Amino acid sequence: MTVKKLNTRKLRNFKKSNEKRNLQMLTCYDFQTAKLLNETNLDLILVGDSLGNVVLGYETTVSVTIEEMIIFTSAVKRGAPNKFVIGDLPFGTYNTVEEGLKSATALFQKSNCEAIKLEGAFDHQLELIKRLTEVGIPVMGHIGLTPQSVHQQGGYYTHGKNEESAVRLLDNAKKLEAAGCFSVVLECIEKDLSLAITKELTIPTIGIGAGTDVDGQVLVINDLLKLGSDYPPSFCKPIADFYQLKKEAIEKYLTENYA
Ligand code: KIV
Repeated sequence: MTVKKLNTRKLRNFKKSNEKRNLQMLTCYDFQTAKLLNETNLDLILVGDSLGNVVLGYETTVSVTIEEMIIFTSAVKRGAPNKFVIGDLPFGTYNTVEEGLKSATALFQKSNCEAIKLEGAFDHQLELIKRLTEVGIPVMGHIGLTPQSVHQQGGYYTHGKNEESAVRLLDNAKKLEAAGCFSVVLECIEKDLSLAITKELTIPTIGIGAGTDVDGQVLVINDLLKLGSDYPPSFCKPIADFYQLKKEAIEKYLTENYA
């Protein structure tokens, strides 16, 4: 199957194009899965720093390093040359604009990905997004539950439930668009607010745990396929149970004692 690769021009114009469909993005962390996704109609691949949780077994994404992100994003890009691949800037690598420029350039140049994503919309992050787009590095924004700030935010929960937080999130989304983002992830944002943000922005919103009234959805592939033993978050209904399948296959191998 030949699938047309997306680009930032098409993504920026996605809402104007009147395509009556949602964008679909999945995370991916390895070469073989990337090869498989490369043969599908999937729009976008995110090499999320969630790999810290689901691949590397860290407690939070705070432990993920830029070197790790470069290794995994490069592997995915080698497997999915025909996909628009987004690499995630990890915690502590964009605390200042200069640091962020250096980290994003390294990830973008060494992995060959098409864009980077970063969490937050504070002034230095907005300035960084502006500078990155000026030097040719497209940026996807990310607001709401931002896992790199889990300790600062005080856990994992739905955002935008009270007026103050809703006003701030809407304002942040507009600032991300103005700074130059081609799209923005809304993670665990109250669904009516996600709709309001989606209506307000000209760039596509990609939701996760943010209801259905957004321009696209992203899921962690390990949750969707249930690759791990833990039950995925409530907003993700697994479409398969590969953990169980693999367990049964290995137990069969052990009992049948294949030669
Ligand atoms: O790291 C990640 O996988 C993410 C998505 C959940 C949006 O940031």
